[in-house]
Amino acid sequence: MTRTELPFIAMHGITKRFGGVVALRGVDLEVGHGEVLGLVGDNAAGKSTLMKILSGAYQPDNGTIRIDGEDVTFADPEAARDLGLEMVYQDFALVPELSVTQNIFLGREITRRRLGVSTLDQRQMAKRARELFERIGIRIPPVTTPVRALSGGQQQAVAIARATGFDCRLVIMDEPTANLGASAIDKVRETITRLKASGIAVILISHRLEDVFAVGDRFVVMKHGRVVAERAVADTHADEIVSMIVAGIDPRDRPPGDQSASPQPGP
Ligand SMILES: Nc1ncnc2c1ncn2[C@@H]1O[C@H](COP(=O)(O)OP(=O)(O)O)[C@@H](O)[C@H]1O
Ligand SMILES: [Mg+2]
Repeated sequence: MTRTELPFIAMHGITKRFGGVVALRGVDLEVGHGEVLGLVGDNAAGKSTLMKILSGAYQPDNGTIRIDGEDVTFADPEAARDLGLEMVYQDFALVPELSVTQNIFLGREITRRRLGVSTLDQRQMAKRARELFERIGIRIPPVTTPVRALSGGQQQAVAIARATGFDCRLVIMDEPTANLGASAIDKVRETITRLKASGIAVILISHRLEDVFAVGDRFVVMKHGRVVAERAVADTHADEIVSMIVAGIDPRDRPPGDQSASPQPGP
């Protein structure tokens, strides 16, 4: 791939161990501005760990992260969020007893000063929350509803709205359609398309290749803590991606006529 401009995000040589488990073995990953990247691979390939590093939840043991060419380190998720990188967790990380608005503004409430006293600006937060749902194209019950009363798809929408609300430039979604019905899956796809149209990049971790084919630009395939292949969505098909997920090699890496084993032996 030739690139005439700096990639939005460039991760290079990322390694991560958990005790005796090597989760990442030197991963390079680039993401373009507004690109929708499908990150795929078997369980334990290292997808979630890589994305937790990019969103500041974990620190890498080695390797670098550049944003628009500048080296960055994230001490915590707030540091990543300050640069516009957000992650929607697999379990949504919502507080069931709190309202939609309270969940969206948790930890970053809008306040106003009145007679010298700082109070929560409920009206402003409710208004912003409704705007966020409008932008991602999802209708939900009134924003005062407690999150526990929402369907799975609606909770997902709250998690996405929360992530994309604030000067966001990248949203990472970890298996967003895993537990959803067909119509909720359609909504997640539509949301991703809308985010892309507004210039926001999306990294979609998914076992459902059809979601990446529907809304993605590029596949990145991981296995055993490595990136083993990448393909433009327009330049591949499901059988090829599945076989690369299983084999952990990119057949295009093998020179023609070479019958030898994988150029990247597994662990
Ligand atoms: N917090 C953790 N503590 C110990 N091991 C972990 C932790 N997180 C991930 N791992 C291990 O790292 C490897 C990669 O996991 P993960 O990134 O979750 O893979 P994936 O998301 O592709 O399924 C697995 O072997 C997993 O058990
Ligand atoms: Mg995972």
